[in-house]
Amino acid sequence: MTETVSIREVGLRDGLQMVTRQLPTEIKLDWCATQSAAGFNEIEVTSFVPPSVMPQFTDATEVLTGALQIKGLLASVLVPNFKGALRALDAGARKITYVLSASEAHNQANTRRSTDASIAMARTLFEERRARGLTDKLQLSCIIATSFGCSIQGAVDPARVCDIAAQLADFGADEISLADTVGHADPKSVATLFHDAMPGCGQAAMAAHFHDTRGMGLANVVAATEAGVRRFDAALGGLGGCPFAPGATGNIATEDCVYMLERLGMVTGVDMAALLELRQKLAAWLPGEELHGKMLRAGPIRSGTI
Ligand code: COA
Ligand code: ZN
Repeated sequence: MTETVSIREVGLRDGLQMVTRQLPTEIKLDWCATQSAAGFNEIEVTSFVPPSVMPQFTDATEVLTGALQIKGLLASVLVPNFKGALRALDAGARKITYVLSASEAHNQANTRRSTDASIAMARTLFEERRARGLTDKLQLSCIIATSFGCSIQGAVDPARVCDIAAQLADFGADEISLADTVGHADPKSVATLFHDAMPGCGQAAMAAHFHDTRGMGLANVVAATEAGVRRFDAALGGLGGCPFAPGATGNIATEDCVYMLERLGMVTGVDMAALLELRQKLAAWLPGEELHGKMLRAGPIRSGTI
């Protein structure tokens, strides 16, 4: 049986939050449309944060509105608080990813509240979805940052991550994503944490969000697939990182992740040639920005070559 796996592009959100230059709205929408045409069903298109905190996303409403016009694309958005979710709802969001951190110290640095306060806020968001009659129309995903460790406080208790995931699943989360924000995960911890967290997450789909900070990114993807995960975040050119987490670096590169999963016999639905063309455009859109990923340089393997 062929296995299908879903790769969500997060370069427009996780990636751009580390890029100080402002990418014009038209270019962001060109990126969305081109990547959607290359076979991506879901793209995290922006983040609803205060423009004073991240000016890169001042055009969040315009980007989401434009992305919602792209046929066949699920345009998801990140929100760190209820206010951001209300802005996203006003713009017509169909999928919202709510971020909170398992690490108390990172949650304070990132959102200026305790992890329990962020969990309580998540509950309010699920109640809001119900009150608006949107339970079947709006997907609510929760991403638990620093699930594998934190560069501010150090170790994060895996039992705490499992407990947070179970609470969010109880609220009605459609998806729970475990994120390795600062590259503390390794294949063994990935296998163990997903194995331990899954039973408490009921019907929620499990997803993984890996940064390649210590070169473990793709190995962690393999470990997660073996644990049963079929949804992955990745950023074109390995962009990404969290401005509120010291030492954070880029996500796994989308193009390398697609290549690897296809080599493992999984179906991503991605047209690699089209993706690499977009990857070249990205370098032109972000001159001077350090991009990563091996596929652009090497290209796919052609038969008869070594
Ligand atoms: N979008 C726009 N404006 C927002 C907002 C949002 N999501 N959240 C709050 N605001 C505004 C408020 O209206 C208020 O404006 P005012 O001073 O004009 O009245 C101001 O920002 C402060 O609001 P406050 O209630 O103190 O904010 P908060 O404590 O609920 O939230 C965060 C703080 C979460 C918004 C802030 O810490 C943040 O943006 N963090 C970034 C998190 C992130 O994206 N990290 C990277 C991804 S992991
Ligand atoms: Zn990230």
